[in-house]
Amino acid sequence: MAVKRLLVDVHTHVYLPRYANLLRTRTSVPRIVERERPGAQGVTEERLVILEDEPISGRPIGSQYWDRTEKLKFMDLHGIDLSIVSSANPWLDFLPAPSACELASALNTDLDEYCASAPTLADTALRRLYGFGLLPLALGVTPNALLDAVKQVAALPHLRGIILGTRGIGSGLDDELLEPMWEALAETDLVVFLHPHYGVDKKAFGERDNGHVLPLALGFPFETTIAATRLILSGVLDRHPNLRLLLAHSGGALAQLSSRLASCIAHDPVAATRLEHDARHYLGRLYYDAVVYGCEELGFVSDVISRSTGYANLKASAKDSAEAVDRAFGSKRMLFGTDHPFFPPLSETEKWKSVVENLEAIEGVQGWSEGDKAGVRGGNALELFGLKP
Ligand code: URA
Ligand code: ZN
Repeated sequence: MAVKRLLVDVHTHVYLPRYANLLRTRTSVPRIVERERPGAQGVTEERLVILEDEPISGRPIGSQYWDRTEKLKFMDLHGIDLSIVSSANPWLDFLPAPSACELASALNTDLDEYCASAPTLADTALRRLYGFGLLPLALGVTPNALLDAVKQVAALPHLRGIILGTRGIGSGLDDELLEPMWEALAETDLVVFLHPHYGVDKKAFGERDNGHVLPLALGFPFETTIAATRLILSGVLDRHPNLRLLLAHSGGALAQLSSRLASCIAHDPVAATRLEHDARHYLGRLYYDAVVYGCEELGFVSDVISRSTGYANLKASAKDSAEAVDRAFGSKRMLFGTDHPFFPPLSETEKWKSVVENLEAIEGVQGWSEGDKAGVRGGNALELFGLKP
């Protein structure tokens, strides 16, 4: 019997009810505020305000952010068989350490339950929902508390990874205090999903009101680029070759800048001898969601990953040969995602543009075979998350 090729969404979020309720009680960012809908006297609506310096009007938020039925409806509408759901930003970053620890534990149990009671995937023993858990990454949290959380997530059957932001416990992901966490994560099968929240200094975006365009289109991916680069420079990937790190939004500008990064390292007396490999090598050790909305960008990232993998295997003299750049190879590290429930269509349409564009982008990549595309749509995720139907 032919096995159906599955569509798997690895970048899809939820604000679990417990978390949304917390945001409703808050009087500073991040928060959910209730306000009167403009032009509709007496009718209120909730708004999500999570980005620093965001106007109080924030963004619209509704049941698609917390209701599992809405997630499944969205999946059905777009033919998504299985989703690996993650809590959305800013996670627990803003909480005092004891509350972060308590809430991480409760939310991990909530998410496991959210997945465990989801429908099964037809003709398989799989559920339609799996999840990324949370670690209590907040100021002042101890390495031991992080280790306890890694243990908890690893033991919950429907959690297959953790999602984290770029701030760590205050000093970023290259903080030496996080070393035991990376070690523990590398010893599990958990996939670490690195996702942005803070963007870059808003002064770079000027005074003109461009809505959320600049922080989301540029700030988010630049933040991921910087965090991933700092991780590479810290040697975390040298020390923990088994770490499985998935970068949001295809790693931002990392692929575009990787040769420049390698060159800057090679010319820098502080960093030149620090790493075991040419910086480009590490790009072939990472995983990338395919949330970039364009086939050329997917093809490009795929080429760079292929070449990076080449850097691991090829002799220096062969680095630039055509052989080293086999686009299909890079596709194996790329995975379909939607960023649901963010980026809903502005006007009512049947399917979400953000989803359709990402699927069309995969379909349109020159040089990917049907098998490569099926891998990006779902096969690679099943493999990475150990979800064999
Ligand atoms: N906006 C966010 O705040 N988070 C996302 O993941 C996507 C858009
Ligand atoms: Zn996202």
